[in-house]
Amino acid sequence: MVELRQSVFGVEFQSPVLLASGTCGYGREYAELIPLDEIGGLVTKAVSVEPRVGNPPHRIAETPGGMINAIGLENVGLRRFIGEKLPWLRENLRRAHVLVNVVGRSAEEYAAVVAGLDGEEGFLGYEINVSCPNVEGGTMFGTDESALAELVGRLRRETERPIIVKLTPNVPDIGIYARICEESGADGLSTINTFPGLLVDVDRRRPVIGNVSGGVSGPAILPMGVYLTWHAALSCSLPVIGIGGIRSGEDALQYILAGATLVQVGTALFVDPSAAKAVHEGIVAYLDRTGTGTIGELVGALEARGPVLA
Ligand SMILES: Cc1cc2nc3c(=O)[nH]c(=O)nc-3n(C[C@H](O)[C@H](O)[C@H](O)COP(=O)(O)O)c2cc1C
Repeated sequence: MVELRQSVFGVEFQSPVLLASGTCGYGREYAELIPLDEIGGLVTKAVSVEPRVGNPPHRIAETPGGMINAIGLENVGLRRFIGEKLPWLRENLRRAHVLVNVVGRSAEEYAAVVAGLDGEEGFLGYEINVSCPNVEGGTMFGTDESALAELVGRLRRETERPIIVKLTPNVPDIGIYARICEESGADGLSTINTFPGLLVDVDRRRPVIGNVSGGVSGPAILPMGVYLTWHAALSCSLPVIGIGGIRSGEDALQYILAGATLVQVGTALFVDPSAAKAVHEGIVAYLDRTGTGTIGELVGALEARGPVLA
């Protein structure tokens, strides 16, 4: 028997595999596709104070090795999330953990979402999205050191629940941002969000995506995600959730060996809705095959020499 349970953020995760924000709706949409309560958990679509309609079409397109999206953080807003989405999560997920992905245009807006949700039940904590490349100002807090410190510090005063900051890959040195989050009171990091990209329709000589640019995700970004996760994990002592291009147990293990405690599966769900289950089973098979007793032994076990390059 192998042991996949780990204690993270003050609770036990039965599996290191979670579903990534924006790729599994608010959970209910996925309940018929996989037994949701058997995975580690899920991260909801971003929640903002007011509902958002998102960007004009086209909003998603396939790219070599992945996809580009500019959904534009469309979401039902705080009030409807509490009234319509959270009750289902509360009633149906007993063992899988829920993180609520939070966005805002200002520190006040982020704080209002956290304050508005904090008294509710049905979720573990917050994933703070400071890294969305496809809305104006979406990476404002993720690319400005003092704004990030102020935001995380402000949210720390609003809640005792876990605060996990989702970082952007689009900075010269992710280690600086990882340390700022730690020093400002965050409990964990998620690395990474999508990379900014542009896909061109050469016949029309126009961008394929209505928003012009979008965020690139999927297998194409896996080595960058693993590198940035390694760099972030070495730069601070917070638990890191590895994200980017994960399709298999071996993909997830690259992140775990590089220092991730948990992982998230996103774009792969569009190809195979049961991908998270396959990732979980692939990790179990690896532990079996290598005679590894517990997943914890693998976290950060990468043997690598040399400096961390920015
Ligand atoms: C359609 C789509 C919507 C997304 N929406 C969000 C979002 O609302 N909040 C967020 O933090 N990340 C969002 N993401 C980013 C993913 O959670 C993830 O960080 C990224 O896609 C990289 O992982 P992947 O390669 O496994 O998809 C979205 C990604 C996609 C493809």
